[in-house]
Amino acid sequence: KTPLIIDTDPGIDDAVAIGAALHHESLDVKLLTTVAGNVSVDKTTQNALKLIEFFGTGTPVARGARQPLCMPYEDSSHIHGESGMGGYEFPEPTTSIHPEHAVNAIRETIMRSEEKITLVPIGPLTNIALFLAMYPELKSRIERIVLMGGSASAGNHTQTAEYNIYADPEAAKMVFASGLDITMVGLDVTSKATLTPDNVVKIRDLNETGNMLYSMFQHYRGGSLKTGLKMHDLCAIAYIVKPELFKTEKYFVDVESAGVYTAGTTIVDQKNRYNKEPNVNVCLDIDVDAFRTWAIECIAKAK
Ligand code: BDR
Ligand code: CA
Repeated sequence: KTPLIIDTDPGIDDAVAIGAALHHESLDVKLLTTVAGNVSVDKTTQNALKLIEFFGTGTPVARGARQPLCMPYEDSSHIHGESGMGGYEFPEPTTSIHPEHAVNAIRETIMRSEEKITLVPIGPLTNIALFLAMYPELKSRIERIVLMGGSASAGNHTQTAEYNIYADPEAAKMVFASGLDITMVGLDVTSKATLTPDNVVKIRDLNETGNMLYSMFQHYRGGSLKTGLKMHDLCAIAYIVKPELFKTEKYFVDVESAGVYTAGTTIVDQKNRYNKEPNVNVCLDIDVDAFRTWAIECIAKAK
C-alpha cells in the first residue's frame, strides 16, 4: 500500500477525494492535515473529523495553518457553502484533534513510517511550505508530492489563477521550487473531470456514502448539477492509483506571486521560453469516461 498524507480544506470535492482514498485497497492514509482554504481552518478541521467519524476509519486529523504566508485569507464558501460541506447534517464530531500542529504531525508521521510518504495537498499549500521550511532535512523521506492546483491554461478563481494556488501563492512557489518530485493535477484535467447528472444519481443509490455525497452535491457550486460537477480533488487520488488515465508532460513551473491581474497564476513553460530545467510533471489531459467509471467504483467501496 502507498502511504499518504492528505493535506486538505474540506470542501465538497475534498470529501469525495478523502472518501475514495480511505477506501482504496492500494492506499494507506496515515494522516489528514487541514488548512484554511475553502473555509476557515477551524471549519475544515471539523469537516475532516466529521468525515473520519462518518467513515469510521480513526485516521488522525491535525489542524494546520490559519492563514496564508503573505496574502490576506480569502475563503471559497460561495462554492462549498458556509460550513464548507453544506447539504448534509453530520453529527458534531467527538474525536479529538491531533495534539500537534499539522506541520509537526507531518514530521512525526514521516519519521515513524518505514516507507517514504507521498504528500497529497488538495488545498492551499501553506502547511506544505511551512513543513519544507521547518524540516528541509526530511525532504529525503518524501516519495513525491501529487497536488491539486494550478493551470496551464485559464484560472477558476481569477481569469488566470486556480484557487488553491491563488490562496497562497508564496507557499506554492516554495513547493514548486523544492526540488521534490511534483505532479501538478490542475484545472486542465480537473475541470473536465466531472460527474454527470446520471453519475450523480447512480452514486446516490450505491450506499450510505453515495447518499451523503449526493446531498452535498445539491449544494456544490463546482460546476453545475445539470452539466456536471467538477471533481477537482479526486483527480489527485486518481493520478496516484490510475496514472494511465492521464497525459502528462514535464515542464518548468513557477508561480506569479504578485501582479495587478495575475497573482496566483502558475506559469507552465510549455514552449521552454525561459530555458529552465523542468521541475513539475504537469497533467494535461484525462480520459474522462474512464475517470467517471473509476470514481463510481471508488465510492461503491465505502460503506
Ligand atoms: C480547488 O479549490 C477548491 O475549491 C476545491 O476543493 C479544489 O481543491 C479547485 O480550484
Ligand atoms: Ca480542496
